Amino acid sequence: MKISLRCLYLVLCFSISTQLTFSQNPVKKIGKITGVTINNQELDIRTENASVKVTAYSPGIIRVRVDKQQLAEDFSYAVISKPQVTKVSITQNDAEINMITDSLKVNIRKNPWQITFLTPAGEVINQDEPGLTTSWVSESVTTYKKMQDGEHFIGLGEKTGGLDRKGNAYTNWNSDVFGYSAGQDPLYSTIPFYIGVHHNVQYGLFFDNTYQSDFNFGASNNRFSSFGAKGGEMNYYFIYNSHLRDIITSYTWLTGRIKMPPLWSLGYQQNRYSYYPDTEVYRIANTLREKKIPADGITLDIHYMDKYKVFTWDKSRFPDPPAMTKKLKDMGFKVTLIVDPGVKEEKGYGVYDRGVKEDIFAKYPDSTYYTGQVWPGWCHFPDFTSAKGRNWWANEMKVYAGDGVSGIWNDMNEFSTWGQKAPDNILFNYEGKGASHMQIHNVYGLEMIRSSYEGYRAALGGNKRPFVLTRSGYAGLQRYAALWTGDNRAEDSHMLAGIRLMNSLGLSGVPYTGMDVGGFTGGASPYLYARWMQIGAFNPYMRNHTQINTKSSEPWAYGEEVLEITRNYINLRYKLLPYLYSTFYEAKESGQPVMRSLAIDYTHDENVYNGTYENEYMFGHAFLVFPFDSQTQIERMYFPAGKWYDLYNGTIQQGNAHVKTELGMSKLPVFVRESSIIPMQSLVQTTAERPTDTLTIHVYQGAVNNKFVYYEDDGESYNYEKGDFYKRNITYNAAKKEIAFGKVEGTANSKFSNIKLVLHGFSGSTFKFNGKNSKVRDDLSALMVPISRFDPTGLSNPVEGEKVKIMSIKNSTELFTVAY
Ligand code: GLC
Repeated sequence: MKISLRCLYLVLCFSISTQLTFSQNPVKKIGKITGVTINNQELDIRTENASVKVTAYSPGIIRVRVDKQQLAEDFSYAVISKPQVTKVSITQNDAEINMITDSLKVNIRKNPWQITFLTPAGEVINQDEPGLTTSWVSESVTTYKKMQDGEHFIGLGEKTGGLDRKGNAYTNWNSDVFGYSAGQDPLYSTIPFYIGVHHNVQYGLFFDNTYQSDFNFGASNNRFSSFGAKGGEMNYYFIYNSHLRDIITSYTWLTGRIKMPPLWSLGYQQNRYSYYPDTEVYRIANTLREKKIPADGITLDIHYMDKYKVFTWDKSRFPDPPAMTKKLKDMGFKVTLIVDPGVKEEKGYGVYDRGVKEDIFAKYPDSTYYTGQVWPGWCHFPDFTSAKGRNWWANEMKVYAGDGVSGIWNDMNEFSTWGQKAPDNILFNYEGKGASHMQIHNVYGLEMIRSSYEGYRAALGGNKRPFVLTRSGYAGLQRYAALWTGDNRAEDSHMLAGIRLMNSLGLSGVPYTGMDVGGFTGGASPYLYARWMQIGAFNPYMRNHTQINTKSSEPWAYGEEVLEITRNYINLRYKLLPYLYSTFYEAKESGQPVMRSLAIDYTHDENVYNGTYENEYMFGHAFLVFPFDSQTQIERMYFPAGKWYDLYNGTIQQGNAHVKTELGMSKLPVFVRESSIIPMQSLVQTTAERPTDTLTIHVYQGAVNNKFVYYEDDGESYNYEKGDFYKRNITYNAAKKEIAFGKVEGTANSKFSNIKLVLHGFSGSTFKFNGKNSKVRDDLSALMVPISRFDPTGLSNPVEGEKVKIMSIKNSTELFTVAY
């Protein structure tokens, strides 16, 4: 009796507290399901307050669309794949609907709506927060997900903060944030895609909505993670795979992948705001060559233009651009130019006049052009959301192709205006459908780089790869451009924040990234500069850049010691180009980033999410990089499972270990993962120079199997799309101790005619090479040693080539001989 009274009391309390009834409830819920239509792999659902469509996009991808009204015509700037024909079983009863593919299960409760994603074995991967699910407050729509025990949240593109985003909230509104703080949000780009990790499962969630969006991963609440936007549809893709890397592959199947970048863009790029006149550019180029600092690119900032007017040159500073680019080309340098979208409102300026004639600028509702201020003064802004606008821009770019320019650096494309508050009511074409600034703001940069990429490719004749760099973008930006992280500061916290930004971008489908190495605002100490350049050598895009009126930031600006350290690491980067280029090929094929957060390969190792270790990353499959700041002398490193070789001396470090290390200025701690396969070439000063004809392949003994796809092509054209490449699998079988070179694929010849195999850690053992038993003759313990007289460790002996026999691949009877 006592118990039942208490129960009654509890039930009463519960029903009172859950029956929130207001005369006007500002929150509109999706409500209960009132009708269901099954169309093959798709469910069309009507609820009390919404229309819903759930589509099996592929076995591992489920798309959910919800709107208060009828669902609008389907359109996305980000998603380029159509649903795959997918085997699905759909059943329903009064209480629920079940949709089952080969990879996952979807359960939808009917009263009220609530969606849950499960593994085929029935474990919950992700579920709506049962009381909150999806709802609206005015036009803002949000979906609330139940926070799982121990859930980690990673990715979300260019976002500051820790690797694990739990406990934090983020806004997506592309912003120009000059000299941002290391924890600022939002920055320049929007990628509304994150990955959740818990209980040995992981999933991806892509919210494809271009309005201002907000993500909450348990900030100020302990109940849910949520994502929502100020307008538009609830429109998300849920991705499940049994490995995190496959989630990135699936996400980039949806939103696209990079094309092969021009090889020269992987070389070192020298920049400042701004190098002028042309004689100063020559001085920089000559000094790089004199001081034997390998380099491929010089980038010109806004002072090359006539009063900052896009598609012009200041002829007093640069009297003969074609002659300048030719001269630089002869020295092995390519030129990249900055472009800003704002077009100066000035009659008689041809670019402006043609823009007006073609009527391609964004307008207010009263049909007058929107005018905002940027570098050149009052400007109009091209409407890149129309084919007409993009074509106009593409046409204007031709002038730079004629001038011999190789790269286009898209800046201020958030879009930025002084005052940073472009009005909501600017209207855009939006592919003929019409949209306000509120809807297209976050895709303005994406459509600008689309136009720059397509336009400049066409301007170069169609078959030459342009290099396109951007500051702003939206999901899918990787199809058109590399992204750099904008106006950072010359501070340790920024160097490390930059690493996390790039690691996060890599998790979010953007493999080609860089930061202003050395820091944009302020000035670095020599120690910070040295450390930053070392880390920069292990970034996908390596560009040194600094702000106007700051101290010089070229490698020689910090004295001999820093110069030597910097040169060592740029040298290493150039020797690693065959490895780096093959890693970009992997990015092109599968979306895997070049800078890889440890969460990709060691997803369920809790140490990876520990703030002490969160900056560690893999550079491609082989190198574990420890990007410590320049202040600390002793640091803690975490080695995930496996066996790791010190890059500099081959010392073996067992994994699952926390190790203290002493840091000096000359060395960045880098380790090589066991079983790694690393192709290298001889040192060159520019990618325009041919390396020697020997490709050196380093193999590190280990207990796990490995496969490396070695890839080469001409580095500049799209002929690879027609099969004109050279590709072969190099495999390492741990149990059999066998190294094998697969058959060559593609029609191109390799630029190397010899292969030298260098084995690490195979001492005293026999191994198999392409099926034949072989004896290890020489065991070399180091891959590369920076030759530095400042190296306090004294590990400075070059070892390559010392005792190793170089095998001519033309003589097929020799050991290690490989037929091309
Ligand atoms: C912006 C860019 C910066 C550039 C400057 C001048 O601040 O982010 O890289 O140097 O504009 O163009």
